[in-house]
Amino acid sequence: MAIVTLSDIHVAFGFEVVLDKLNLQLHPGEKVGMVGPNGSGKSTILKLIVGHIDPDMGRVIKQKGLRIGYLSQETMFSGDRTVLEEMHAGVEHLLKLQRAIQAVSDEMESLAGSELQVKMKQYDRLCHDFEIEGGYEYEIGIQKTLAGLDFEPELHHAKTSALSGGQLSRLSLAQVLMLDTDLLLLDEPTNHLDLQATEWLEKFLTGYNGAAVIISHDRCLLDKVACKIIEVENRQARVWNGNYGNYVQTKETERLQQEREHTRRVEMVERTLDFIARNKDQEGMRKTARGRKTRLNRLLKENPDFLDKPVNQKTISFTFGKTDRKSDLVLRCEGLSKSFGDLTLFENLTFDILNGQRIGITGPNGTGKSTFLRLALGRLEPSAGRIRMGRNLRVGYLDQHGDVLDPSRSVLDEALSVNPGLSSEQVRNRLGAFLFTGDDVFKQ
Ligand SMILES: Nc1ncnc2c1ncn2[C@@H]1O[C@H](COP(=O)(O)OP(=O)(O)OP(=O)(O)O)[C@@H](O)[C@H]1O
Ligand SMILES: [Mg+2]
Repeated sequence: MAIVTLSDIHVAFGFEVVLDKLNLQLHPGEKVGMVGPNGSGKSTILKLIVGHIDPDMGRVIKQKGLRIGYLSQETMFSGDRTVLEEMHAGVEHLLKLQRAIQAVSDEMESLAGSELQVKMKQYDRLCHDFEIEGGYEYEIGIQKTLAGLDFEPELHHAKTSALSGGQLSRLSLAQVLMLDTDLLLLDEPTNHLDLQATEWLEKFLTGYNGAAVIISHDRCLLDKVACKIIEVENRQARVWNGNYGNYVQTKETERLQQEREHTRRVEMVERTLDFIARNKDQEGMRKTARGRKTRLNRLLKENPDFLDKPVNQKTISFTFGKTDRKSDLVLRCEGLSKSFGDLTLFENLTFDILNGQRIGITGPNGTGKSTFLRLALGRLEPSAGRIRMGRNLRVGYLDQHGDVLDPSRSVLDEALSVNPGLSSEQVRNRLGAFLFTGDDVFKQ
């Protein structure tokens, strides 16, 4: 029996139809990878299942009492709560009880005699309440999940505003994974995870008894975990059995077959046209030639897409324009150090980056990769040493969370504002190279 059934789903945002006549079922315990181009509707499908949006037509049927854990693509924390407080989101009463227990236990230290007796009773009552509410199991769950996702105990009391991008992603994941669930819906869980955390997630999912849908571009994760792949494309979902590797292979075989079939059709039409041309005026052949022509015309009329090329997925294509040669030195670090309070990220870095070099920065979550870029941009001050850019450089900066974007402005306005010298037509052409076509550019 399916735990979730989507039947004949239709979803449109304004005039844009995102899903149409979509059918899909999820079964107990199955781990499913979900893939598809950007904007094809993957996140929308998860939101339909959780109930964050309703379909315009069709039905979402869920098994009664199904417990769903949902990790959304955008992680949002207010910043002023700590890691532990966030882990208690939804069960704040447990946190309150825990604090009350701690307060009473502190008070008991300075009491004696009958006053102590009264406090002890209060203490016992609070502990009892905590146990009845499942507090102890909950706390163990939190500690285990935080340890699995590599949150050192000293980070537990850190405010979320002090966490790195990867640490924030891990925190949202931890929140979802520690709940008792029958179905996990994970929207790009590994986006900012380092290798170690990704491996932990992989193991977690393999050992998880419930069903899971994982939207991911991480083929390695899907290869190890998924037993099915849902491909979202052309407003529909198609299910492929097997892991990601099987999916790619079967799809490639299908594509080659379609290409062969297309070539065969083109050759057939060319042969027929050639036959008609050679024979239409030949004595004794005119009737046959006319018959062939009628049949060909009928075939093409009844099957207007008979000669259509199989569609290949669109890819991003662009080149960097020419720039004037500025300075050979792009970036210079001299004895650069950075600390936040007691936490030292790096010390005494000295190196140059020269024009034309391509440098990768890698390392576990929270080691200071984004901080380094922000130092280079002058948005943060070093704790010691210097970092400076070459003269007259034009710098493009893509931050980890797209914070540079104003969510209330359209794609076109955002692009125009960084390219004030270009016409709207030129900017639209550039956006097209990044697959923002048609009305996409007017979306906020
Ligand atoms: N609230 C909304 N209002 C208007 N349009 C929306 C809204 N949510 C989604 N869309 C549009 O619906 C389409 C599908 O969006 P969705 O987020 O489901 O895609 P996706 O497959 O998850 O893409 P990605 O790989 O980029 O995460 C996109 O064209 C998007 O612009
Ligand atoms: Mg998405």
